[in-house]
Amino acid sequence: MSFDRKIKIAPSILSADFANFGQEIQAIETQGADWVHVDVMDGHFVPNLTFGPQAVKAFRPHVKTVMDVHLMIAPVDPYINAYADAGADVLTAHIEAGPHIHRTLQAIRGAGMKAGVALNPGTPAEAVEHLLDLTDLVCVMTVNPGFGGQKFIDMTAKIRRLRSMIGDRPVHIEIDGGVDPTTAPLVAEAGADVLVAGSAVFKGGSVNTSEVYGENIRKIRASTEGTWT
Ligand code: DX5
Ligand code: ZN
Repeated sequence: MSFDRKIKIAPSILSADFANFGQEIQAIETQGADWVHVDVMDGHFVPNLTFGPQAVKAFRPHVKTVMDVHLMIAPVDPYINAYADAGADVLTAHIEAGPHIHRTLQAIRGAGMKAGVALNPGTPAEAVEHLLDLTDLVCVMTVNPGFGGQKFIDMTAKIRRLRSMIGDRPVHIEIDGGVDPTTAPLVAEAGADVLVAGSAVFKGGSVNTSEVYGENIRKIRASTEGTWT
C-alpha cells in the first residue's frame, strides 16, 4: 500500500446486500472504488451489530484493492490479531474505545497492518496530537457512529486543524458519514483524502445494475475535482 493524498472513494459495505457481500465487493471495485470500507460494530460501543473477524476473513479474497476495517468495538486489543489474520490492510480503532490508544496503535502496526485512529464528532483534533507518528490514518466521523444514512455533521474546522497538525507526515485523513456529492467537496477542500460513502454509493443500484454504483462513485469523485488537498 503506497501513500498518496489523491482522493480515494471507499464505499462502506454497511449499505450493501448482507446476503451477497462477495458480489457486492466485486461490483463496487469494478465500478471504480479505490478502497473497500468494512464497518465492524459490537452492539456495545455503538448501538448496532454487524459482523466479526470470520466474516471479514471471508470478504478478503474478494477485495483486490485495500480492505479498510473500521472497528466500532470496545475493547479493541483482544481482537487485533484476529483482524490481522482476517487480512485487514488498515485497522482503525476509536480513541474513545479505551484508555490506552497508544498501546493499541502500536499493537496494530506490530501485527503488520496500517494503524488508524477514529474520532467521534465530540472529540477534538488535539486528542491525536501525540499519536501522529504512530498512526497511518485519522478517521474523522461526520456522524455519530452506528448507522448508515445519517445526516452529515460539519467537521471541516477539525479537518483543517488535523491537516495542519499532520504536516508532511504520511497520514491519511478519512471522512466517514454522510459523504455525498454535496458534502464531499467541503471535506476534500479542508484536506481529507479518503472519503467513505455508504448510502451515496449503493443507493438505487444492485449487483445486477452495478453501473448505478459506478455512476454514484463518479459523481462523488467529480464533486471534489478542483478542490485543493
Ligand atoms: C457509520 C459507519 C459508516 C457508514 C457510512 O457508523 O462507520 O461507515 O457506513 O454510511 P453513510 O455514507 O450512509 O453515512
Ligand atoms: Zn465506517
